[in-house]
Amino acid sequence: MKRIPFGTITITDTARKLAMNALETGRISSGKLVREFEDRFASLVGAKEAVAVSTGTDADILALAVLHDFGAKRGDEVIIPSLSFVATGNAVLHAGFTPVFVDVELETLNINPAGIEAAITPKTRAIMPVHLMGKPAEMDTINEIAKKHGLVVVEDAAEAHGAIYKGKPAGSLADMAAFSTYVAHIITTGEGGVVTTDREDYADILRSLRSHGRTCSCKSCALNTASAYCAKRFRGEGGEDIRFTFDRIGYSCKMNELEAAIGIGALEVYGEILKKRHDNLIYVLDRFEKFGEFLFTIKEEAHETIGPHAVPVLMREKVPFTRAQLTDYLEKNGVETRTLFASMPTQCAGFYHLGHKKGDFPNAEYAGTRGIHFGVHQDLELSDMQYVLDVIENFLKGF
Ligand SMILES: Cc1ncc(COP(=O)(O)O)c(C=O)c1O
Repeated sequence: MKRIPFGTITITDTARKLAMNALETGRISSGKLVREFEDRFASLVGAKEAVAVSTGTDADILALAVLHDFGAKRGDEVIIPSLSFVATGNAVLHAGFTPVFVDVELETLNINPAGIEAAITPKTRAIMPVHLMGKPAEMDTINEIAKKHGLVVVEDAAEAHGAIYKGKPAGSLADMAAFSTYVAHIITTGEGGVVTTDREDYADILRSLRSHGRTCSCKSCALNTASAYCAKRFRGEGGEDIRFTFDRIGYSCKMNELEAAIGIGALEVYGEILKKRHDNLIYVLDRFEKFGEFLFTIKEEAHETIGPHAVPVLMREKVPFTRAQLTDYLEKNGVETRTLFASMPTQCAGFYHLGHKKGDFPNAEYAGTRGIHFGVHQDLELSDMQYVLDVIENFLKGF
């Protein structure tokens, strides 16, 4: 029987060499390999700056925590989709903000732009759309709303490496973008994350935040003006910077050299990885309509390229089988699956204190109970994708 695992990791010879060298020299904490990985990542994404961190969750947290430098208060609000991997919601809370949820559209699995304006209050500081399953969120509308209300936009691009929206790569579609390089993702460092941005001041603050809030070298600091925290910097009696004083509430989430070595190796074969995964994804999406009576998935539209993370599958409302029956059958036939996350506010206990009730986010809840996803990674062939389709077809034949 074939095995179709959800994910894989590509560790190239370059990665091995770089990692071995780092081990031999003992230079394993964040250093020149991390900087090289950041430079390469930034140029692939088309952003001026990339700041590498320990996880994609940290990337989300730090991108939002930057807002504290620009007058945001603890308890201010960040609008996010109700359906995502739970890290999106956790990150808002960890950055000191309150998540305000907007339901998703079932056809795209992304935040419904029509619901965003109604969620804006005087406390709203940012919108963090998620490109779920690599499908770009409706960024033009989101950016327009943000501009109208003076909000920052952060892409949660954890699953969207290689995604393109109207000719521009995910990671360059908003003020900042947060990627995960966890092993389940397209470009991986094992564990890791990256924030991309065109703003040098944001990048400087991000570098400070990932290292305990240490004094940064940003222009705001030099001028002692723009950033609320830089302006309040504590200095020695002679006006000098003091090593163990810190400008802002920071985190400790640097990427290390071994992770960066794996990432640099993966970026060398970025194009090949993306093509293989995208071919696999499109092979399945193009052949999925025949299951339409029972199951549906997302579409790649003319204005976009989906970042080939995985294939999401949703069951129609009235089907004569349960999700567990479907996933058991797939698993028994060697196809690894994951459920399609959950409605954070109403299906994840950590958010219950926010007081939402079941039924508030019907589409996210639907995906949370009736959705699954499976892998399209670079070690799978089109014949493997055909195998998965055959297994699904055989399952459905029983009904
Ligand atoms: C949409 C989304 N955001 C954030 C994250 C967090 O990334 P990490 O697992 O690297 O912390 C993930 C991870 O899978 C994700 O899918």
